[in-house]
Amino acid sequence: MKGARASQQTRPRVIALLNQKGGVGKTTSTANLGAAFAIAGLRTLVVDLDPQSNLSLHFGHEPAPDQPTVRDLFMSPEVEASELIREARENLWFIPSDTELALVEGELALQPNMQHILAERLASSLPSFDVVLLDCPPSLGVLSVNALTMADEVLVPTQAQYLALRGLEKLLETVLLVQRALNSKLTVAGVLLCMHESQSGHGKAVVQEMESYFEKYRGSSLPWQDAEVLRPAVRRNIKLAEAPSFGQTIFDYAPLCAGAADYRAIAEALRERWKRVVPNAQVSLAQVSSMAQGPAAS
Ligand SMILES: Nc1ncnc2c1ncn2[C@@H]1O[C@H](COP(=O)(O)OP(=O)(O)OP(=O)(O)O)[C@@H](O)[C@H]1O
Ligand SMILES: [Mg+2]
Repeated sequence: MKGARASQQTRPRVIALLNQKGGVGKTTSTANLGAAFAIAGLRTLVVDLDPQSNLSLHFGHEPAPDQPTVRDLFMSPEVEASELIREARENLWFIPSDTELALVEGELALQPNMQHILAERLASSLPSFDVVLLDCPPSLGVLSVNALTMADEVLVPTQAQYLALRGLEKLLETVLLVQRALNSKLTVAGVLLCMHESQSGHGKAVVQEMESYFEKYRGSSLPWQDAEVLRPAVRRNIKLAEAPSFGQTIFDYAPLCAGAADYRAIAEALRERWKRVVPNAQVSLAQVSSMAQGPAAS
């Protein structure tokens, strides 16, 4: 890693992009939000925590058998984290994954303190960045828990479909467990609607339901008390699907398309949100038990 030095602060904002459902837009959002932050001047690191290794495709990176990857963060203590960080674009760095990361889940389960490995191994590199985005695999396993243990906030890429709401509740349960046991600063920024079709009546109803779900928890001190359905939604746009096959982010491939406009606007909305929303207070056990019985009164 050369030339990385954070422009404003000593610890970056760390965001986990998490949804246990597959194919919802986590990797597309990590790559293109990362690129949008970088273009806006924020020194940004994106980390591929998925054995499918799709994130690197957006940066034209070809996996090679002997290169160190995120797997070495977990399994090779002798490899320095800084050796894994590759420059992708101006202000944008990434840590690639590899398919063997799939084996890590099983091996990690046997290690003490296994939820903290990612946070501990990346700690010395963090001061170089303003923003870190963690692209999680489609599961709530050890790798995702490592991301949650390190993160300040969770962003949930999703589609506006009825089943997405059910999945969201399960995800929030996991966030709460991690926040209670491992990472008291963890909050949920909200839902990022991906591949959105604004004309769908079903979609509109689900978005309303998500909004009123979050509304019920305002003032609750639960990690999603300030969560929102972020605007704008990222519209379905074929250019977003095409860009990685050319080794490009949307800002290289089609900077004037709707997909580029949407990710630029979401990056801007998140930066505005960071000015507005103060970090979550620690959850009290009373609030946790009242959550089990339904939304806390505000
Ligand atoms: N807004 C969009 N418009 C059109 N296609 C999109 C959009 N967002 C994502 N896609 C496409 O949808 C597919 C799934 O997206 P992506 O890989 O980002 O999801 P994911 O949640 O990371 O998947 P996985 O759970 O497998 O890691 C990809 O082919 C991607 O190019
Ligand atoms: Mg993915």
